[in-house]
Amino acid sequence: MQEAIKNYDDVDDWKTVMFLYNSALKEVGTKLEILNDEFQHVHRYNPIEHIKTRIKTPESIVKKLKRYGYETSIENMVRYVNDIAGVRLICSFTSDIYRLAEMIGNQSDLKVLSIKDYIKNPKESGYKSYHMLVSVPIFLSDSVVDTKVEIQIRTIAMDFWASLEHKIYYKFEGKAPEYISKELRECAEMVSALDEKMLSLNEAILSCIHQEEEAEKERERLKQENPVLAGSQ
Ligand code: GTP
Ligand code: MG
Repeated sequence: MQEAIKNYDDVDDWKTVMFLYNSALKEVGTKLEILNDEFQHVHRYNPIEHIKTRIKTPESIVKKLKRYGYETSIENMVRYVNDIAGVRLICSFTSDIYRLAEMIGNQSDLKVLSIKDYIKNPKESGYKSYHMLVSVPIFLSDSVVDTKVEIQIRTIAMDFWASLEHKIYYKFEGKAPEYISKELRECAEMVSALDEKMLSLNEAILSCIHQEEEAEKERERLKQENPVLAGSQ
């Protein structure tokens, strides 16, 4: 990036741009924590297991621009690299993913620029995740700058798969032996089966809890209607 900074005199400088991305990450991170806390408050349930945030390193920004065939410049990086600020939301169940995506989409100050649903349409590798590219307004002393943040939403199981696959991909520089890629795709199937099973198990548990609560309410109602019965328990 050094080289690019020297030639650059338009969109402020590298430090200002990185300051914007860091601020955008803080804004989005806080918004998501608030959504999670509110959900806990209203529904006694946390859709988010954990949140990871990261800023792309200058090296990988340059690598990406090269891969896309663009010159290394701050203007190009701001325009073409969409994941300089990245947030990863890890949740327990696939249903949480869509719930969170909807809650994010409903935030009036966030603009959803694009969505890639790799859960409905998994990648060739087997990769599954829900990606949202959003922009958040950053209020500076004399201007407002819309800044892009990539949000990846996935389950714990999908995250487990993606982190292992990422390591393997790097180890083989993208050319893993076919039998390894095949096994990874099989693991991706197992991840989907596990996610489905966990979701239906959770639904069964919730329905048991609900029935139990209803039965308790009914017992309370009977007790109040008939105090004699209440004493005989
Ligand atoms: P890049 O893939 O980053 O060039 O951007 P893109 O515009 O093609 O977006 P895409 O949605 O394909 O991927 C964005 C991000 O998702 C990547 O930077 C990874 O973090 C993640 N990702 C996409 N595909 C895979 C995959 O096959 N395996 C793993 N582990 N992660 C992936
Ligand atoms: Mg890609």
